[in-house]
Amino acid sequence: MNAPFRFTTCRAGSEATLKRDIAAHFNGGLTPAFMKPQLITWKVRQPGFTPPHTLSHFARVSGISLGLCHSVSEITDHVRKLDAQKPLRLHAFPRITPEDGVPTEEWRRSDALEADIRHALQQTGVQWETRLPYAPGDLILDVIVGETDAEPIFLGHHEHQPASHTHPGGLPRITLPEAVPSRAWLKLEQALAWRGWDKLDLRGETALDLGCAPGGATSALLQRGMHVLGVDTGDMDSRVLQLAKAQNVRFEHWRTAAGRLNLTALPHEPAVLLCDINLAPPDVLPHLARIQDAIQARRLILTLKLNTPALEDRAHEFIDAVRRFAPAPVFATQLAANRREICLTCG
Ligand SMILES: C[S@@+](CC[C@H](N)C(=O)[O-])C[C@H]1O[C@@H](n2cnc3c(N)ncnc32)[C@H](O)[C@@H]1O
Repeated sequence: MNAPFRFTTCRAGSEATLKRDIAAHFNGGLTPAFMKPQLITWKVRQPGFTPPHTLSHFARVSGISLGLCHSVSEITDHVRKLDAQKPLRLHAFPRITPEDGVPTEEWRRSDALEADIRHALQQTGVQWETRLPYAPGDLILDVIVGETDAEPIFLGHHEHQPASHTHPGGLPRITLPEAVPSRAWLKLEQALAWRGWDKLDLRGETALDLGCAPGGATSALLQRGMHVLGVDTGDMDSRVLQLAKAQNVRFEHWRTAAGRLNLTALPHEPAVLLCDINLAPPDVLPHLARIQDAIQARRLILTLKLNTPALEDRAHEFIDAVRRFAPAPVFATQLAANRREICLTCG
């Protein structure tokens, strides 16, 4: 479709990275137009150029921009004009998304708007799809809610793709429990939700967790009934062992560096290989390739730390390097709880 404007949403603080990534990748074919924190629209510069559905790994949602609306009736007018010939889904979500989660009252505001839009559209006979699972090509109306009710509503749409988030805005409503050792718990739960892996029954399966200390992600795996072998030179939180006991699963901590592992002693074909080591990708990827070659994990969930603009600008290169050793498909995104890092899932 030759729509003149695209939109992207992103993490707070990733706007500059997103702009650099899109400028480099599309060679000036898309230039920034309207900008607000965590929302950038793009003018499609070259006639006949159709950008891909997903514009960047640093964009949580990418789509076609329909512009700003001041009322529900303006939104319903746009939807009628869309004349969707395929299932239409509605995603209303806040523009501002703090890394530890959107406050309940903000969700309440966007939920109330979503209910108003659904009601208005029902009156006009537009049908919404709410059944799961999503299918590639399902049409999603993105309603992006501003910081106050006075701010116009941003409207866009996108087609669902295998790597797209199914939670509105890529924001699953998962909150970090107080009793877990680190916020890596939240990152892992968001990664599982993104890929629909939260629905898998992983009880009794094994995970290898590289860079496991103090144990947030390990805790999430144990809570799912998995046995976990954790590798880290640092200390684990004492609650991790207690949790393993309570869940009646095994947890073992090897206090060593990932580069020094005895590969033959590792579990073969674990259900999940996790890596959250805080080293730059050029240092961590060779270890990961060697370990994955030896163990052939069925799924990988990797956090790539991109702590400098130079590393961020090499994200594509690092993702390609992962594709060379990991099971397909390999998808990358910046999760809501990610800081200067991206999440890759493989398998
Ligand atoms: C962001 S923290 C991991 C948080 C952890 N995944 C959790 O769920 O709590 C990064 C960890 O990588 C570990 N690390 C750094 N270099 C490492 C290496 N070469 N091998 C194993 N772990 C390493 C650090 O000790 C640190 O605990």
